[in-house]
Amino acid sequence: MKGIILAGGKGTRLRPLTKVTCKQLLPVYNKPMIFYPIQTLVSSGIKDILIIIAPEYSGHFLNLLGSGKDFAARFSYAIQEEPKGLADAFIVGEDFIDNDDVTMILGDNIFERDFSKEINAFKSGGMVFSKKVKDPERFGVVEFDKNKKALNITEKPAKPKSDFAVVGLYTYDSRVVSYAKKLKPSKRGELEITDLNNVYLKKGELKVNIFEGLWEDAGSFESLLRVSNLIASKEHTK
Ligand code: DAU
Repeated sequence: MKGIILAGGKGTRLRPLTKVTCKQLLPVYNKPMIFYPIQTLVSSGIKDILIIIAPEYSGHFLNLLGSGKDFAARFSYAIQEEPKGLADAFIVGEDFIDNDDVTMILGDNIFERDFSKEINAFKSGGMVFSKKVKDPERFGVVEFDKNKKALNITEKPAKPKSDFAVVGLYTYDSRVVSYAKKLKPSKRGELEITDLNNVYLKKGELKVNIFEGLWEDAGSFESLLRVSNLIASKEHTK
């Protein structure tokens, strides 16, 4: 199992904080944001990690993270020239994936627990995690039937069919590269991870795990402050 951290994008929602650096390098309490997804992958047993970054601040990532030695991991880097969407990570990362299974985590997603149990049990297809949230319209949203079987996933729906958001950690077999290449850009011009998940779902090959525990997408001022405060209070009660 290889790992990808998607840490590109323009971070426009966090301007002016992101005027001279990337969102994923901003502080979350006492660490740069990207340390958290790195820790999530490493503690889930994934050590071979591709970090996908935007061209503008690529040097900042190299200065901070280097070879990965400090994290007991091996880092590779790839540039995503334009933010073409989350699913583009599997096209940018094609050579790195090289017929292996892959877990991608978003560079602004913060979890408290590791995923080693589920990742070790992964055999083929796709696997996502879904958490009940108060603001599902910000996310990919899963519609379930009465037996909690996933029916479909919709990206940022105006009228969500449930309160279950798809969190930013995705595991796929190596077919993900060819499926990503077949996707068409959505109305907002992106290759959507939600469309990729629906490809696996339609084949009956997407496992949707219900996730409980701390998860924050630190991509807004409010969530960035909330997650910093949460981590600070946990550190102080250690
Ligand atoms: O946080 C979970 C949500 O992440 C999912 O529920 C949604 O289905 C998924 O589309 C995504 O939504 P966001 O609106 O949060 O995605 P965002 O555009 O903020 O991108 C997530 C991260 O990926 C962010 O750190 C920037 C980076 N990124 C984004 C794009 C579009 C890239 O590196 N390259 C890109 O092309």
